[in-house]
Amino acid sequence: MLAQTTDCLVLGYSKADFEGFASSKGAKTKAGVLAELDLLLGGSVSHANVLGDLDSKQASVCLLRADKSWSANAVKAKRVLLLSMGDLRLTADQSLTAYSKVARAGLKALSGGSIENAIWFAPSFTLSKTSEKIAQEVRLTIQYAGDQAYRFGVRQPAMKFKAKDKADTFKHLIFAGNNACAKELKLAIEQGGAMVEGMNLAKDLGNLPPNICTPTYLGKTAQGLAKKTALKVEVLGLKQIEALGMGSFLSVAKGSETPPQFIVMRHQGGKAGEAPIVLVGKGITFDTGGISLKPGEAMDEMKYDMCGAASVIGTLYSAALMKLKRNVIGVVPTCENMPSGRATRPGDIVKSMSGQTIEILNTDAEGRLILCDALTYVERFKPKAVIDVATLTGACVIALGHVHSGVFSDDEVLVDALTKAGKDSLDTVWRLPLDAAYHEQLKSNFADVANIGGRPAGSVTAACFLSRFTEKYKWAHLDIAGTAWKSGAAKGSTGRPVPLLVNFLLEQK
Ligand code: BES
Ligand code: MN
Ligand code: ZN
Repeated sequence: MLAQTTDCLVLGYSKADFEGFASSKGAKTKAGVLAELDLLLGGSVSHANVLGDLDSKQASVCLLRADKSWSANAVKAKRVLLLSMGDLRLTADQSLTAYSKVARAGLKALSGGSIENAIWFAPSFTLSKTSEKIAQEVRLTIQYAGDQAYRFGVRQPAMKFKAKDKADTFKHLIFAGNNACAKELKLAIEQGGAMVEGMNLAKDLGNLPPNICTPTYLGKTAQGLAKKTALKVEVLGLKQIEALGMGSFLSVAKGSETPPQFIVMRHQGGKAGEAPIVLVGKGITFDTGGISLKPGEAMDEMKYDMCGAASVIGTLYSAALMKLKRNVIGVVPTCENMPSGRATRPGDIVKSMSGQTIEILNTDAEGRLILCDALTYVERFKPKAVIDVATLTGACVIALGHVHSGVFSDDEVLVDALTKAGKDSLDTVWRLPLDAAYHEQLKSNFADVANIGGRPAGSVTAACFLSRFTEKYKWAHLDIAGTAWKSGAAKGSTGRPVPLLVNFLLEQK
């Protein structure tokens, strides 16, 4: 590897490696990776250590630059970036979090300077060196490299603006491993790359303004993917949505000049008869609140109210690119929530596709109104499981902040699988309840169910509302209101929960 030309070779070392190296006197008595490297690099590591540049603290970085002594030893790397992994005697969960810190610090050091390509020596970061662990870390590294490289407007020429953010000078990340894990490494690289493509798409769709990213635009985007990949895409318009009897979905779309769309995307990677995993994404391209109008402050961020849809479309794109051997269906009900003379009023009663009547007490609780009809629609697929993804409630942001997405389900197996997939991709979820007691809050004097349950446990009652439409299959609901985008100076889509969903699909038995 040292014989391969590269701008930078990236290597990890543990606290034990460091202590063994730093404590012993005289190069001859030293052992371990740093000592071996020191010999090859003509004493550069010792030199860095004498200067105090080498540290056992986790995620500290040390960049060594080539000099004559390197070329004398036929070392072709122009630089070596040493990343301290610290003490890695940690549990599996902790060690992935630790690795992510190290990887992010390393990627940051590679970025923004004159380094254009680097070789990441994957086995040097894993103590156990199992190929599964290496694959997981490689996927995560690619995920973070994708986050670092992401720029809005690159794929939308119409959206070009005077970007203060120039494209990163760092272009190519090459992974190296040993022969024992070559196959796994190659697969992990493909999967990681496909995941980044899906995340980029999800981020772009989220970040695009609501005058561009309309329901029609989402439909066209999905159809565009069908041309690029083996995905089968069908987009239903107003007439077809009416014919299906989606009275609840249509009640939200009514106030808008722009027509609703109902997108169905299929990835047929499994056997013909295999029950599909169905993902349903909330696609409100702008949420004003409708007649129950939202306050003006930060209302622009309600362009992100289609991030559930974006993550479903992104995940299906990833699945197609990585030729995932499973059947997956993505379903997106999409419309705007606008006030107008034709908009739904608080007090209106509508009939959902399931036949249940809904008293709409607040037109700002619109996500559940479009999702419930989609959840009834997907019964026809006889799904193995259905997961809906939605920026559903402000209450979820209050409960969990921006760290975990909320997960709601009565199915323990599904909760466990989603929790594990979240931990494996560091796109985590936290379970919230769904008990029968909360359904009390949704009682209506005039219809089968009310669309709001008051302020207490707002995320839970929203999930309870949805659960009434999911009796025919195994179901989980993800509330991503706090995790799908960032506010403030770093405003932008996170691409979450694409990593979670992709990992979930990869880990399905
Ligand atoms: N899209 C919002 C939820 C939201 C709000 C996400 C703020 C992220 C940040 C959703 O449609 C909504 O308006 N929910 C209401 C429900 C309420 C009226 C019961 C909410 O959370 O306030
Ligand atoms: Mn709303
Ligand atoms: Zn909304």
